[in-house]
Amino acid sequence: MAIEYITSKNLFSLICDTLKLMDKSLVKHGKRVSYIMSKMLECKGGYEKYEIADFMLLAVLHDIGAYKTDDVRKQLTFEAKNPLPHSIYGYLFLKYLSPLEEQSKMILYHHADTSQIAHVDYTYMDEAEILKVAEIMDIWMKAFGEKFDPHMIDRYRGTKYQDEACDLLFEAVEKYDIFTKLKDGSYEKEYEESLEYILLSDEEKEKYLKMLMYCTGLRDETMVSSTIATIYVSREIGKKLRISELDKNEIYYAALLHDLGMLAMPKELIDAPRKLEEAELNLIHTHVELTSEALKGKLAQSIIDISATHHERFDGSGYPRGIKGSVMNNKQAILQIAELVVNLSSDKPYRKAHSKEEIVKELNDGIVSGKFDGIVTDTFLKYYDEIMEKAMEKASAALVLYQKLQRNSDQVYKNFTK
Ligand SMILES: [Fe+2]
Ligand SMILES: [Fe+2]
Ligand SMILES: [Fe+2]
Repeated sequence: MAIEYITSKNLFSLICDTLKLMDKSLVKHGKRVSYIMSKMLECKGGYEKYEIADFMLLAVLHDIGAYKTDDVRKQLTFEAKNPLPHSIYGYLFLKYLSPLEEQSKMILYHHADTSQIAHVDYTYMDEAEILKVAEIMDIWMKAFGEKFDPHMIDRYRGTKYQDEACDLLFEAVEKYDIFTKLKDGSYEKEYEESLEYILLSDEEKEKYLKMLMYCTGLRDETMVSSTIATIYVSREIGKKLRISELDKNEIYYAALLHDLGMLAMPKELIDAPRKLEEAELNLIHTHVELTSEALKGKLAQSIIDISATHHERFDGSGYPRGIKGSVMNNKQAILQIAELVVNLSSDKPYRKAHSKEEIVKELNDGIVSGKFDGIVTDTFLKYYDEIMEKAMEKASAALVLYQKLQRNSDQVYKNFTK
């Protein structure tokens, strides 16, 4: 399905742009590490270009755990002083929620000393060692500035870093001049070119798009549970209305990605146990446009159009554009109603969930006043119990997944520090 809606290269840039919503400099670090790693792999030889591209994707994601476990602005603290939490969380996040299950352990080891892990039998251990060296090169370049010299790594050869990986770094510096290119930024052009080789299967694309949705849980897990419930409700309304498969798919992707822009919102506002001030609300409202910007030019426009209007209302009272029903279609109306009812049915830090009676009244009033599309809203109301019961079940199941992630993370931590 996803294959028709997004190319592999665009998916790669959507992943980067989604992570950028949380922190730009950490994404830049990921890209630079990814570039260094790709050149080291080229020196090592024996890889097809698309295989190198796969490792590049993993390298971009290597610090993804830090968005959950650490203050991403304090990179030197979590990379150098206390690297285990983000290594473990990132490993499990990719293992459970991405198509990189097999390679995910590379993330677990990306700060481990060679002397500690040399005995471990793991298919991608050589690549994990290469990732480690690529990542430390970028960290040291930043930390030491003009004083940095790639040969600094020799001090740790054989203890922290694998011999062969150190040699590959020097070879890449020599052969591809990566040090100069990283310093003057010219690596970026070369980097873009190598992304042409990314070749993802439909199934991988599907999983990566879902992974992006799961990224919202790095900020707030209830965003994932709400999105999962919203997907379900919108699908059920679509089914009852007998819309086409094509329309169902478009609504699915729009629902899946509609709140990515929330990743850029300050955590204090997302969790605020009070009603927000006007200025704060206005800031939260920008999440819709941020989502559209991240998706723009990468995903089919018909999908972006649906996600971009999930807070609009048919009488023009919604945001961000205040457009009216005359310029909206029923796919947009479906996502609006689905998002609204899930939102109203959920507890929020500043209020309790609304009761069924309250929600039904609000929807009926909205039909009368022209705020909501009549047919879509009526259809939902007709099947309220059937749809909402299952939707809420799905939402709680998503939270269980995060609990599992946390529990396993603690377990791996204990094993690692034993
Ligand atoms: Fe890193
Ligand atoms: Fe790291
Ligand atoms: Fe939203």
